[in-house]
Amino acid sequence: MESQREEHASKLLGAQTHIWNHIFSFINSMSLKCAIDLGIPEVIHNYGKPMPLSQLIASLSIHPSKTSFIYRLMRMLTHSGFFTQQNTIENELEMGYVLTEASSLLLKDNPLSQRPFLLAMLDPILTMPWQQLPTWFQNDDPTPFQMTHGMKIWDYAGHEPRLNHCFNDAMASDARLVASVVIERCKGVFNGLESLVDIGGGTGTMAKAIAKSFPQLECTVFDLPHVVADMQGIDNLKYVGGDMFESIPSANAILLKWILHDWNDEQCVKILKKCKEAITSKGKEGKVIVIDMVMENEKEDDESIETQLFIDILVMVLYPGKERNEKEWAKLFFSAGFSDYRITPVLGLRSLIEVYP
Ligand SMILES: C[S@@+](CC[C@H](N)C(=O)[O-])C[C@H]1O[C@@H](n2cnc3c(N)ncnc32)[C@H](O)[C@@H]1O
Repeated sequence: MESQREEHASKLLGAQTHIWNHIFSFINSMSLKCAIDLGIPEVIHNYGKPMPLSQLIASLSIHPSKTSFIYRLMRMLTHSGFFTQQNTIENELEMGYVLTEASSLLLKDNPLSQRPFLLAMLDPILTMPWQQLPTWFQNDDPTPFQMTHGMKIWDYAGHEPRLNHCFNDAMASDARLVASVVIERCKGVFNGLESLVDIGGGTGTMAKAIAKSFPQLECTVFDLPHVVADMQGIDNLKYVGGDMFESIPSANAILLKWILHDWNDEQCVKILKKCKEAITSKGKEGKVIVIDMVMENEKEDDESIETQLFIDILVMVLYPGKERNEKEWAKLFFSAGFSDYRITPVLGLRSLIEVYP
């Protein structure tokens, strides 16, 4: 009897911990954003060796009344894997902070920095719509974003230059990282191609990297007019403004990186049909190259699965989008008239999918 009561109490407290953990998960994001806004990774990086707390505090632009709080922020972010502690060189008994792989990737000057992505995703313009999620389930508005701001995210970006720049920079930071891996791991995908259009290619980071690595390839970045308005083409790369639901420039291959997950199935089939019409060469060479997630891959670890599920809800809140499993992808491709596809799962949470006419 006693042991049953004990077990019941443990289960109750465990459930409360689980609830608290989820209630306060946003503290992970907000603590990280705070460290980035305060420039903590840069300060530790510039120190060049394990940085004692006293030195860190002295190097930050914070009010003297706040110095004692930095320790608690650092303790949180050390627990979540953004900093570690090592013995300092001068004093074996003293510990100092060093960056981890993850915080190094948030340094402003890291060529593959994910800082712009973090700043955009945690900007109040993009976080406010989350408060509307339950109401959105009860009305016929297309997205919580549209409910909050009265227009689609792409129209909002067209009117509000701060969101336009912040969003385009975020996408460019992701594109730099993905392009470096695609070019390293998937070179063969571009073999035999003479032309490529990057649809919804933003400010052209991905296409520029491809154009540079494959000088024989004529590349076009196609995006909404407000996105490409001030962009200048170079050598084998040009910019074209337009609406992918109206018409798409012709090429041997059409790249859709992080595009289809922004749209519902009906809209995706429309985009894919436009792509099919725009492909100029036959057989395996002519293709659509999709970069997006393939959900429900059993090999994924818990953190990867949770992150994919986060992004699935994110695209529901911001766009009328959706993350898809292989069956759902296949249905879209065949509904748009394509005959075959090949998934290459070498981009972390995302895959490269070649889709053949
Ligand atoms: C999620 S972002 C992806 C950007 C880029 N492909 C990348 O992954 O870095 C989606 C892009 O689609 C563009 N877009 C949205 N609606 C569009 C339309 N109707 N025609 C062309 N581009 C569009 C947006 O401006 C934005 O650049």
